[in-house]
Amino acid sequence: MNARDPAANLATPVALGTLVKRLDGHAKVTGQARYAAEHLMDHHQGLDPATSPDVVHGVVVNSTIARGRISGFELSDALAVPGVLDVLTHAHRPKVRNSGLFYKDMTSPGGTPFRPLHDEHIHHSGQPVALVLAETFEAARYAASLVRVQYEAEPHDTHLLSNLRRAHQPSRLKAGYSPPPEPRGHADAAFEAAPVRIDASYYAGVEHHNPMEMHASTVLLGADGHLTIHDKTQGSQNSRWVVSRVFGLPRSRVTVRNAFVGGAFGSGLRPQYQLLLAVMGALHLNRSVRVVLTRQQMFTFGHRPETWQRLRLGAEPDGRLTAVLHEAIAETSRLEDYVEVVVNWSGQLYQCDNVRMEYSLVDLDHYSPMDMRAPGAAHGVHALEVAMDELAHALKMDPLALRLKNYAERDASKDLPFSSKELRACYAQGAERFGWHGRPLAPRSMREGDDWVGWGMATGTWDAMQMFARARAVLHADGRLVVSSAATDIGTGTITVMTQIAAAAMGLPIEQVCFELGDSDLPVAPIEGGSSHVATVGSAVQGVCEKLHKKLFKLARALPGSPLARARFKDVRFADGMVKSTLDPAAALRITDVLSTAGVSKLDEKYLMLPNMLRQKKFVRAVHSAVFVEVKVDEELGTVRVTRVVSAIAAGRIINPHTARSQIVGGVVWGISQALHEDTLTDHRLGRFMNHNLSEYHVAVNADIHDIDVIFVEEHDDVVSSLGAKGVGEIGIVGVAAAVSNAIFHATGRRVRSTPMTPDKVM
Ligand code: MOS
Repeated sequence: MNARDPAANLATPVALGTLVKRLDGHAKVTGQARYAAEHLMDHHQGLDPATSPDVVHGVVVNSTIARGRISGFELSDALAVPGVLDVLTHAHRPKVRNSGLFYKDMTSPGGTPFRPLHDEHIHHSGQPVALVLAETFEAARYAASLVRVQYEAEPHDTHLLSNLRRAHQPSRLKAGYSPPPEPRGHADAAFEAAPVRIDASYYAGVEHHNPMEMHASTVLLGADGHLTIHDKTQGSQNSRWVVSRVFGLPRSRVTVRNAFVGGAFGSGLRPQYQLLLAVMGALHLNRSVRVVLTRQQMFTFGHRPETWQRLRLGAEPDGRLTAVLHEAIAETSRLEDYVEVVVNWSGQLYQCDNVRMEYSLVDLDHYSPMDMRAPGAAHGVHALEVAMDELAHALKMDPLALRLKNYAERDASKDLPFSSKELRACYAQGAERFGWHGRPLAPRSMREGDDWVGWGMATGTWDAMQMFARARAVLHADGRLVVSSAATDIGTGTITVMTQIAAAAMGLPIEQVCFELGDSDLPVAPIEGGSSHVATVGSAVQGVCEKLHKKLFKLARALPGSPLARARFKDVRFADGMVKSTLDPAAALRITDVLSTAGVSKLDEKYLMLPNMLRQKKFVRAVHSAVFVEVKVDEELGTVRVTRVVSAIAAGRIINPHTARSQIVGGVVWGISQALHEDTLTDHRLGRFMNHNLSEYHVAVNADIHDIDVIFVEEHDDVVSSLGAKGVGEIGIVGVAAAVSNAIFHATGRRVRSTPMTPDKVM
C-alpha cells in the first residue's frame, strides 16, 4: 500500500493520540485503490492490457427452492451461448475434499459448514447450484439465465416465531463462545416479590450486512500454478487456510490478498461461497477466474439472526434492581449452531443480586446466520436498555438516575473487577453535552410545530479483546521504516493507525513509515473482527519497534566515540529521527547516522505478540458508552428523525481521534439504521428473502443523519493492551437503537418493542 497523499499529514512528528488523517484516503477517492473484483491479469503478470486476455468470468446460479434436492439440470442452452466455456454443478465439479471439516474456517460456528456444489441437497433458498464460466461477463450472465434446474422440493420452515417451542440449547458450540452464566440468587422469586415490575417481549428481524463492495474473488493463476487470490475478506489468512484445505493445495501455492476492502461489518469474517467457486473454476479451466456476486446474491449467505427476547425486571420503589431475567431465542441453520452473546450483558451491566439468563436456538431452513455489527449486543443490549427505560417510566424516575442507581462497580456474573470502566464519566459528560438535565420526565411534553420531540438515552457495552499477532519491521539505512502484518483494513483506519503507532514508537516522521497489510504471506494476524485489531496488531507493531529500539541502541552505543557510550537503555528515547539520552541533551545520534556509520544497510526484526492471559484473566475487559438521542416525530405521518446524538465512549486510550471518531459516527449511523430502517423480509411460502436490494432493504442515508457528537472520555487501562488502547468500532452501535426507541417513547408515549421502528408502529 503505497498510494498515499503526501500532503495529508503535514503535522509531523506524530505521537499516540494525535490526529492523523487517513493515509489511504487519497488512493480511495482517486480510484487507485483496487478492490477484489478490480484486479486484472495485466496487473498480475505485467502483460499489456490491450492484448492480453482478461480473466474468465464466473456467474453463479442460485436455488429457487429452500429445501429439497436437485433432480437434474438442463445445460445445453447455456453451453450454446458463444463465449461460454463450461458450467460447473455438483455433478461435474473439480475434485475437492469431501469432509465438512476442511470447510471450517477460523470463525465457523459448531456444525458442518455449507459446501458449495457439494451434492444435490438444497439447504436454503439462494444456495449456489451452478457456476457458469465464460470469456465475458455478459455471456456468463446471459447463460446463467438459461440454466434450467429441476428440483424435488421438500417442506421448509423459515418462521421463527411459530417455532419458539422447538428452541433447544446450542449443542454444536464454537470455541470461545460464552454461554449465559449460571443463575445467581433467586431471580424468579425476587421478580414475583418486586414492588415494581416490567415484563416485556422484544423482537428483531433478519438484517443483512450490505457493505458497499459486493463479495468478489479474483483468482489469478500463475504459470507455475501459484494461485494469487484477491478476495473480499476480513482475514486473508483465513481465506488461504480454507482454500488450501478444501482443494488439498499446499499453503505455499496460495496467496490471498485483501489490500482494500469496501466495508464488511462481519460479512467477510467467513470466506463466502464465491471464493471456493472461483478457485474451482480456475482449477477446472486452468485459467484465471473472477466471480462477483450481485447485490441480490449478497442476501444468499449469512445475516444477523432473527431474535425474540423477553425481559423481566423487578425493582424497589427507589429504583434498586432486585431481579433481572433475560431470555433470548434466535434462529440458526440446520447445518450449524450459530451462537452469539445476546443475554450475558444483562448480568454484567447493572448491579443486581438475582439474575437468570437463557439463550436457545431454533433450526430453520436458512443459511447460517453470521456475526454482524456488534453481534449479540446490538439487539441483546437493545432489549435490556429499552426495558430499563420502561422501568424508569414505571418508577417515575429519570432514566439516567436509574442507571446510576444500579451502577456495577464490578462484574457480578464473573465476580471480577473491570480492567477499567469510566462509564460514570460517559454518563456525566454525555448528559452535560446533550443538555439532558432540562428533560421533562413525562412523555409528550415537548412539541415543535407538527413534531413531538423526545429525548432518550441508553448504555452501551462491548468486549475489549486481544488476540495474538506477529509483526515484522525493516528499518532501512535511509531511515525508511516498513512494518508489516497480515492485518486487514475494512475501512476502519487500520493502515493509518498502524503507521502512526510505528512512527510514534520510532520517533520518525510519518512520511518515512509504511505499514503493509492485506496479504496472507505477511506475518500472522487475526481476522479483523470484534474491534480488536488495534489492541492486537497495534501491540505487535509496538512490540517489533521496541525490538528495533534495542538493536539501534546497541549499535549507537558501540560506535567509535559514541556520545551514548555510557548511556543506559532505560535512559534513551527515540524522537525526531534520533536516539537521544534523556539525561544529557548533547548525547544524541541520528538514526540514519547510526546505521551508516555502523555500515548496516537495514535492520530486520520480527515479533510475536502474545496476550498476557494470566493477568487478563483476573479482569473483565469491556468498553462502554452512554448514548443520548433527540428525535422529532411527525404527529400525522409517524416519521421519525434523529436530530441529535451524543455518544460518550470509554475505550481506553484513543490512538487516533480522527479515525476513532469516524468509527463511532459510523456505528451511530448503523444504530439509527437498525432503529428505523433495516429489515429483511421473508416470504415464508417460498422461504426466501424478498427485499434483496438497496431500494427495498433500507439503510440510513445522508438525509437520515443529522447532528452526531462523539466524546471520548479519559480512561486508563493497562490490561487490555500495552498501548492502553481497548479498541473502538462496534461500541459505536450498541445502545443507539435503544436510545432512539426510548426517545420515541418520550416524544409520543408509544413504546415500540421491535425494530425497525417504522411509521406504522410509531403512529
Ligand atoms: Mo465484526 S461483526 O466483528 O466484523
